[in-house]
Amino acid sequence: MRTQVAIIGAGPAGLLLGQLLSRAGIDNVIVEQRSPEYVLGRIRAGILESVTVDALERAGVAARLHDEGLPHEGIELSFNGQRHRIDVHALTGRRVTVYGQTEVTRDLMAARQAGGIPTIYGAEDVSLHDFDGTRPLVRYRKDGITHEIQCDYIAGCDGFHGVSRQSAPAGSTKLFERVYPFGWLGILSDTPPVSEELIYAGHERGFALCSMRSRTRSRYYVQVPSSERVEDWSDERFWDELRSRLDTQAAESLVTGPSIEKSIAPLRSFVCEPMRFGSLFLAGDAAHIVPPTGAKGLNLAASDVLYLADALIERYQKNDPRELDSYSEKCLRRIWKAERFSWWMTSLLHRFPDADAFSVRIQQAELGYLVGSEAACRALAENYVGLPY
Ligand code: APR
Ligand code: PHB
Repeated sequence: MRTQVAIIGAGPAGLLLGQLLSRAGIDNVIVEQRSPEYVLGRIRAGILESVTVDALERAGVAARLHDEGLPHEGIELSFNGQRHRIDVHALTGRRVTVYGQTEVTRDLMAARQAGGIPTIYGAEDVSLHDFDGTRPLVRYRKDGITHEIQCDYIAGCDGFHGVSRQSAPAGSTKLFERVYPFGWLGILSDTPPVSEELIYAGHERGFALCSMRSRTRSRYYVQVPSSERVEDWSDERFWDELRSRLDTQAAESLVTGPSIEKSIAPLRSFVCEPMRFGSLFLAGDAAHIVPPTGAKGLNLAASDVLYLADALIERYQKNDPRELDSYSEKCLRRIWKAERFSWWMTSLLHRFPDADAFSVRIQQAELGYLVGSEAACRALAENYVGLPY
């Protein structure tokens, strides 16, 4: 098979890139190791920056998002038993939209299928070849038969554990990483959200987050030690722990019910530099991970993909490779700012097991300063809605 761009991975990054390229008349094939059902079974964050909404509009997949997404104009910070609203819209003129990543993925998959654009699901042993030359090749096995895709470019959109970053030549990457000594235990439940807006809670028992997927479906998280096992958390234990970390009013109005999903996600910050190796370009989680505090993961994937789609369009329509040449540098500038913000929000609100009394006081002082200072609130708000693309 021959195509212009071979895309590895059918997560939101790969699917969005495919859609933007197809709409610009650029042939692409997606090679995904899992099934569509498996990809849609993963529960991830659900806050879209306006840049991400614009990208989904440009990709022609924003109709349901506009019908069902919930625009949010603020967030609440909770600590010392009190809640403080940060009016993100008043401070920045912008909003975020609550719409689950699963739904974004579903809409992108449906559009790709409707357009009849090839996607190979269940591809085994995917390997990338010759991307230092002019004839890159992707090889995979399906139903016991080996296949090859010849292409001009390879987009590595295969997430943190994918093959693309690992295919970069030895010694050509610089990796930056921080692993946090805790995770988020999350549940999804068909119960009305405890509050109209998200509550980010810092508490001496640990961080908690009250989020949602719709007016009838809630998503809640509590910080747990990395060693914790999900089997040890009954629904009842989860609800009790969450309640203990909220202010009295939220704790009293919390509606509980059976969980429909429960899992623990580790927290990590990670960046791979550069994001280009010859004709191979990394995008999304393949190149970087942020801890979920601040919900930047999907949004960063979307901004990488916008840069990459535009660069490939320039290359094909004007035979101009300059945007491809600056892709990595341009992405990394935005990525590091989001890494900083996600690390900062994580540090501000979580309990670190090795924190001494001084660090705890500094954390409290920072929270107090933040909610009392319009300048500090604006700095949070402009990062939360997304820095300029
Ligand atoms: N070959 C083919 N496909 C692969 C391979 C491989 N060797 N390894 C992984 N994949 C697939 C995975 O099965 C997955 O469907 O690549 C896809 C990567 O998707 P994601 O992990 O969702 O990554 P990305 O598309 O970059 O999305 C970023 O996801 O993890 C969140 O916080 C993150 O919200 C952000 C978003
Ligand atoms: C979520 O709804 O899953 C969510 C929301 C905000 C975050 C992280 C996760 O910061």
